[in-house]
Amino acid sequence: MKKLNIIYWSGTGNTEKMAELILEGAKGVDNLEAQMIDVSSASKKDVEECDLIALGCPSMGDEVLEEGEMEPFMESIEGSLSGKKIALFGSYGWGDGKWMRDWEERMNNCGGDLVDDGLIVNGEPSGDAVDQCKGLGKLLAES
Ligand SMILES: Cc1cc2nc3c(=O)[nH]c(=O)nc-3n(C[C@H](O)[C@H](O)[C@H](O)COP(=O)(O)O)c2cc1C
Repeated sequence: MKKLNIIYWSGTGNTEKMAELILEGAKGVDNLEAQMIDVSSASKKDVEECDLIALGCPSMGDEVLEEGEMEPFMESIEGSLSGKKIALFGSYGWGDGKWMRDWEERMNNCGGDLVDDGLIVNGEPSGDAVDQCKGLGKLLAES
Protein backbone atom coordinates (compact mmCIF):
# COMPACT_ATOMS: atom_id res chain seq x y z
CA MET A 1 0.00 0.00 0.00
CA LYS A 2 1.44 3.36 -1.03
CA LYS A 3 0.82 6.45 1.03
CA LEU A 4 0.09 9.93 -0.33
CA ASN A 5 -0.11 13.01 1.85
CA ILE A 6 -1.50 16.23 0.37
CA ILE A 7 -0.18 19.06 2.54
CA TYR A 8 -1.43 22.57 1.81
CA TRP A 9 -2.01 26.12 2.96
CA SER A 10 -5.05 28.05 1.74
CA GLY A 11 -6.33 31.43 2.88
CA THR A 12 -9.60 31.75 0.94
CA GLY A 13 -10.16 28.13 -0.05
CA ASN A 14 -9.03 28.05 -3.70
CA THR A 15 -5.90 25.96 -3.09
CA GLU A 16 -7.89 23.81 -0.67
CA LYS A 17 -10.38 23.10 -3.47
CA MET A 18 -7.44 22.07 -5.69
CA ALA A 19 -6.29 19.72 -2.91
CA GLU A 20 -9.76 18.13 -2.74
CA LEU A 21 -9.74 17.51 -6.50
CA ILE A 22 -6.21 16.08 -6.37
CA LEU A 23 -7.39 13.73 -3.62
CA GLU A 24 -10.41 12.74 -5.73
CA GLY A 25 -8.14 11.97 -8.71
CA ALA A 26 -5.77 9.94 -6.55
CA LYS A 27 -8.55 7.94 -4.93
CA GLY A 28 -9.33 6.25 -8.25
CA VAL A 29 -5.99 4.44 -8.01
CA ASP A 30 -5.77 1.04 -6.25
CA ASN A 31 -3.53 0.28 -3.30
CA LEU A 32 -3.21 3.86 -2.20
CA GLU A 33 -3.95 5.50 1.10
CA ALA A 34 -4.37 9.25 0.55
CA GLN A 35 -5.24 12.13 2.87
CA MET A 36 -5.26 15.93 3.00
CA ILE A 37 -3.42 17.69 5.83
CA ASP A 38 -3.66 21.43 6.52
CA VAL A 39 -0.08 22.64 6.94
CA SER A 40 -0.98 24.10 10.34
CA SER A 41 -1.33 20.54 11.65
CA ALA A 42 1.38 18.91 9.48
CA SER A 43 4.76 17.78 10.76
CA LYS A 44 8.01 16.61 9.21
CA LYS A 45 6.90 13.04 9.99
CA ASP A 46 3.98 13.42 7.56
CA VAL A 47 6.58 13.85 4.83
CA GLU A 48 9.03 11.21 6.03
CA GLU A 49 6.39 8.47 6.34
CA CYS A 50 4.88 8.78 2.85
CA ASP A 51 5.99 7.71 -0.62
CA LEU A 52 4.17 10.44 -2.52
CA ILE A 53 3.64 14.07 -1.55
CA ALA A 54 1.52 16.84 -3.01
CA LEU A 55 2.35 20.30 -1.68
CA GLY A 56 -0.03 23.20 -2.24
CA CYS A 57 0.23 26.93 -1.58
CA PRO A 58 -1.07 30.03 -3.40
CA SER A 59 1.12 32.88 -4.56
CA MET A 60 1.35 35.28 -1.64
CA GLY A 61 3.38 38.31 -0.53
CA ASP A 62 5.10 39.28 -3.75
CA GLU A 63 5.32 35.97 -5.63
CA VAL A 64 6.39 33.91 -2.62
CA LEU A 65 4.95 31.10 -0.51
CA GLU A 66 2.76 32.08 2.43
CA GLU A 67 5.30 33.17 5.05
CA GLY A 68 3.59 32.41 8.37
CA GLU A 69 3.12 28.63 8.07
CA MET A 70 4.02 27.28 4.62
CA GLU A 71 7.48 28.81 4.30
CA PRO A 72 8.66 27.58 7.74
CA PHE A 73 7.20 24.14 6.96
CA MET A 74 9.09 24.00 3.65
CA GLU A 75 12.31 24.92 5.45
CA SER A 76 11.70 22.14 7.98
CA ILE A 77 11.22 19.41 5.32
CA GLU A 78 13.82 20.37 2.72
CA GLY A 79 16.28 17.84 4.10
CA SER A 80 13.69 15.02 3.83
CA LEU A 81 12.71 15.36 0.17
CA SER A 82 15.53 13.60 -1.62
CA GLY A 83 14.10 10.98 -3.99
CA LYS A 84 10.46 11.63 -3.00
CA LYS A 85 7.84 11.83 -5.73
CA ILE A 86 6.34 15.30 -5.45
CA ALA A 87 3.57 17.31 -7.09
CA LEU A 88 3.25 21.06 -6.50
CA PHE A 89 0.05 23.05 -6.91
CA GLY A 90 -1.51 26.38 -6.00
CA SER A 91 -3.88 29.14 -6.92
CA TYR A 92 -2.80 32.66 -7.93
CA GLY A 93 -4.31 36.03 -8.76
CA TRP A 94 -2.55 38.56 -10.95
CA GLY A 95 0.99 37.27 -11.32
CA ASP A 96 2.65 35.14 -14.01
CA GLY A 97 3.38 32.11 -11.85
CA LYS A 98 6.87 33.13 -10.73
CA TRP A 99 6.25 31.78 -7.23
CA MET A 100 5.67 28.32 -8.71
CA ARG A 101 8.77 28.41 -10.94
CA ASP A 102 10.87 29.38 -7.92
CA TRP A 103 9.24 26.60 -5.84
CA GLU A 104 9.94 23.98 -8.53
CA GLU A 105 13.59 25.04 -8.70
CA ARG A 106 13.86 24.82 -4.93
CA MET A 107 12.40 21.28 -4.90
CA ASN A 108 14.78 20.17 -7.66
CA ASN A 109 17.71 21.64 -5.74
CA CYS A 110 16.92 19.55 -2.69
CA GLY A 111 16.64 16.34 -4.70
CA GLY A 112 12.84 16.06 -4.94
CA ASP A 113 11.47 14.15 -7.93
CA LEU A 114 8.74 16.35 -9.44
CA VAL A 115 6.27 14.16 -11.34
CA ASP A 116 5.02 17.09 -13.45
CA ASP A 117 5.22 20.87 -13.78
CA GLY A 118 3.65 22.66 -10.81
CA LEU A 119 -0.08 23.11 -11.44
CA ILE A 120 -1.23 26.72 -11.18
CA VAL A 121 -4.87 27.78 -11.31
CA ASN A 122 -6.17 31.33 -11.51
CA GLY A 123 -8.61 31.84 -8.63
CA GLU A 124 -10.97 28.97 -7.93
CA PRO A 125 -10.62 25.80 -10.01
CA SER A 126 -13.38 25.46 -12.62
CA GLY A 127 -13.76 23.99 -16.12
CA ASP A 128 -10.51 22.49 -17.46
CA ALA A 129 -8.72 23.25 -14.20
CA VAL A 130 -10.95 20.74 -12.38
CA ASP A 131 -9.77 17.97 -14.70
CA GLN A 132 -6.17 19.16 -14.46
CA CYS A 133 -6.28 18.85 -10.67
CA LYS A 134 -7.83 15.38 -10.79
CA GLY A 135 -5.32 14.38 -13.48
CA LEU A 136 -2.40 15.51 -11.33
CA GLY A 137 -3.71 13.44 -8.40
CA LYS A 138 -3.97 10.37 -10.62
CA LEU A 139 -0.52 10.92 -12.15
CA LEU A 140 1.11 11.25 -8.75
CA ALA A 141 -0.78 8.25 -7.36
CA GLU A 142 0.39 6.10 -10.27
CA SER A 143 4.00 7.26 -10.15
C1 LIG B 1 -1.63 38.99 0.81
C2 LIG B 1 -1.84 38.44 -0.58
C3 LIG B 1 -0.78 38.45 -1.48
C4 LIG B 1 -0.93 37.94 -2.78
N1 LIG B 1 0.13 37.98 -3.65
C5 LIG B 1 -0.02 37.49 -4.92
C6 LIG B 1 1.05 37.51 -5.84
O1 LIG B 1 2.17 37.96 -5.56
N2 LIG B 1 0.83 37.01 -7.09
C7 LIG B 1 -0.39 36.50 -7.47
O2 LIG B 1 -0.53 36.05 -8.61
N3 LIG B 1 -1.43 36.46 -6.61
C8 LIG B 1 -1.28 36.93 -5.34
N4 LIG B 1 -2.32 36.89 -4.46
C9 LIG B 1 -3.62 36.31 -4.90
C10 LIG B 1 -3.79 34.88 -4.38
O3 LIG B 1 -2.73 34.05 -4.81
C11 LIG B 1 -5.12 34.34 -4.92
O4 LIG B 1 -6.17 35.09 -4.36
C12 LIG B 1 -5.34 32.88 -4.61
O5 LIG B 1 -6.49 32.43 -5.30
C13 LIG B 1 -5.50 32.60 -3.12
O6 LIG B 1 -5.59 31.22 -2.92
P1 LIG B 1 -6.29 30.61 -1.63
O7 LIG B 1 -7.79 30.79 -1.81
O8 LIG B 1 -5.91 29.17 -1.62
O9 LIG B 1 -5.79 31.36 -0.44
C14 LIG B 1 -2.18 37.40 -3.17
C15 LIG B 1 -3.26 37.39 -2.26
C16 LIG B 1 -3.09 37.90 -0.98
C17 LIG B 1 -4.26 37.86 -0.02
